[in-house]
Amino acid sequence: MHGTGKLMSTKSMESLDKLRFYELTLQERGNYLRQETSLTEDDIDALSGLSGLTAAAADKMVENAIGVFALPIGIAQNFVINGRKVWVPMVVEEPSVIAGASFMARLARSGGGFFASSDEPLMIGQMQILETKDPFKARDVLIQHGSELLAEAAGFDPVLTEMGGGPRELDVRLIDQSPIGPFPVLHIIMDVRDAMGANAVNTACERLAPRVEALTGGRVHLRILSNLADRRLARAHIAIPVKELAFDDYSGEQVRDGIIEAWAFAAADPYRAATHNKGIMNGVDAVVMATGNDWRAVEAGAHAYAARHGVYTSLSTWGRSADGALTGSLEMPMAVGIIGGSTRVHPGAKAAVKLLGVKTARELAEIIVSVGLAQNLAALRALATEGIQRGHMTLHARQVAVAAGAEGAWIDRVADRMVAEKTIRIDRAEEILKELKAK
Ligand code: MEV
Repeated sequence: MHGTGKLMSTKSMESLDKLRFYELTLQERGNYLRQETSLTEDDIDALSGLSGLTAAAADKMVENAIGVFALPIGIAQNFVINGRKVWVPMVVEEPSVIAGASFMARLARSGGGFFASSDEPLMIGQMQILETKDPFKARDVLIQHGSELLAEAAGFDPVLTEMGGGPRELDVRLIDQSPIGPFPVLHIIMDVRDAMGANAVNTACERLAPRVEALTGGRVHLRILSNLADRRLARAHIAIPVKELAFDDYSGEQVRDGIIEAWAFAAADPYRAATHNKGIMNGVDAVVMATGNDWRAVEAGAHAYAARHGVYTSLSTWGRSADGALTGSLEMPMAVGIIGGSTRVHPGAKAAVKLLGVKTARELAEIIVSVGLAQNLAALRALATEGIQRGHMTLHARQVAVAAGAEGAWIDRVADRMVAEKTIRIDRAEEILKELKAK
């Protein structure tokens, strides 16, 4: 994004508050980022669509490639995570997500921002062992030979070991009821450092299988990573002073209690929990995608974790502190990496990781879970007060206006009329556009 758009030299948090990033043009936003962050012109170009992933590169990523498919990328503002200001790139097609995250991050800042932590990057690989004479005996044999198996697995990936990662633990589980009867499962728990880890774990499972077969006398059937990455959790916490929650005719107490009531619904009812968690994933997936990570893996882990006690429930928890502040926390598996996969191949993903300023996969996980919590708050605050449609309408109206053929300044004019009329339809947008142009 080249050009001489308006530049701002503000650096402090206070002045950023006054900056209306959304009012800048696309070009000005790029210029602003170039000035205020470590991003270079090439990075901005990779993010803006001027350069970025080419069809030739895509051809090396997937089979039968015919090109690349674009989605919007935007920046969520106001995030302060563990005391550090973070610019958050989000890839998402849904209106209101980025605005919601930015607004809630500003509220969270009034309570010191997000406090996040994460586990060591431990991933689980599974080996399904069939056709053993006695599944109980097979389990005992594997337990007895645990250290030997771990030592063998440590030799499979010297680079990972050199980086401080590698196999850490074995766990033998007995699936005592299945449609094909009982069988043991061997879990290998590996520290995958800054990778998502699927390749390292799958390789270890495949290479260890012959030894496991020799020890148990069985046949190792599946050898694959588990997406229920419950040894690799990330968590974020916020506390918002109650007075900061007040707006329009709603008192801070009303907003806080409304949010807690909304959360209670999700905590108790899987129908609501699915939608509640979807709201969390609006934020989570957008950063996972921007950084070139596997969002299906993160989705699978999230929902399996939400059902870990046998009933699907909310991933987040909301309450009030002794001083009346609204408190919120989110904990979930976060299998993301900053090396390997498309994170290093995709120029946009590379620039996104650079913008986030993270040096480890754990730091990335902590940011992602914070954005998920912010997004959850945005949805609950709206649902518990004015409803979700008001915020959605303006952006949705803009999309409809564009679909009706409006361009440039006409888009907002048409959208504003539709919002005022509370009628967001393409036929009405076409009529309004005609009317306004005729004037
Ligand atoms: C819409 O994408 C997400 C919400 O439905 C989340 C929620 O209901 O909590 C608004």
